[in-house]
Amino acid sequence: MRKIVVMNSKGGSGKTTVTTNLVSALSCTGLKPALIDLDPQGSSTRWLANRPASLASIIGTEGFQNSLQVTKTWHLRTPENSDLAVIDTPAGLTRQDLISATRGVDAILIPVMPSDIDIHAVMKCISDLLLVAKIPRPDLKIGIIANRVRANTRVYSQLRKFLSSLDIPVVATLRDSQNYTRAFEFGMGIHEMPFSQVKKDIDAWSDIMGWLDRLRERNLGQPSAIHYLRG
Ligand SMILES: Nc1ncnc2c1ncn2[C@@H]1O[C@H](COP(=O)(O)OP(=O)(O)OP(=O)(O)O)[C@@H](O)[C@H]1O
Ligand SMILES: [Mg+2]
Repeated sequence: MRKIVVMNSKGGSGKTTVTTNLVSALSCTGLKPALIDLDPQGSSTRWLANRPASLASIIGTEGFQNSLQVTKTWHLRTPENSDLAVIDTPAGLTRQDLISATRGVDAILIPVMPSDIDIHAVMKCISDLLLVAKIPRPDLKIGIIANRVRANTRVYSQLRKFLSSLDIPVVATLRDSQNYTRAFEFGMGIHEMPFSQVKKDIDAWSDIMGWLDRLRERNLGQPSAIHYLRG
């Protein structure tokens, strides 16, 4: 697996949180992940700049460039000195952006918050992925991450219903937790925080890593190098 993109046209759904925690989790397995920041806001790049030198290093690339001709170009090549890249994307992707950002990727993770507004936005985003970017369904490479979930709410069950109608898996459910905000401030992922503090959040990440693992095995027919982080 060489490229994983995190996207959702809706702002504030958790793209940067998922990206930064995923690269951190991958680095904890001994892999050398790169982080490609396509968002001109540069949030993931800022996270990386705050990362303590004592932690596993992560290669960062700002993939967004606005040339003098006002042509937006994205640089999505996985850096050669890395094992795989995780790509953080901005909100409000155009259809053309969607095509560029998903070209040649191995997995698409979509964080979504369970509110009416977010559910409608993600429905459009998923439809665009299937119809405009023409992601073939048998690829099974789209996974949803339900983010900031407060259990058993009505909108959350609406979201589950919508996704099951499309046969798109909910890969993991992330709690609404200050651990994410804290980890971000310090340039860390939750896997790099004291276990006693984050133990309720870790299982969700095993789910995400497990899904990526299975996708990789299915695509390559090879055993995986990504293992669960903490038992
Ligand atoms: N599971 C969570 N628990 C608590 N806070 C969260 C969680 N996920 C995200 N947040 C917080 O919500 C805010 C938005 O998250 P984030 O920046 O990851 O979203 P985004 O989709 O990247 O936003 P944008 O579209 O602006 O790039 C941040 O302040 C982040 O710390
Ligand atoms: Mg972001």
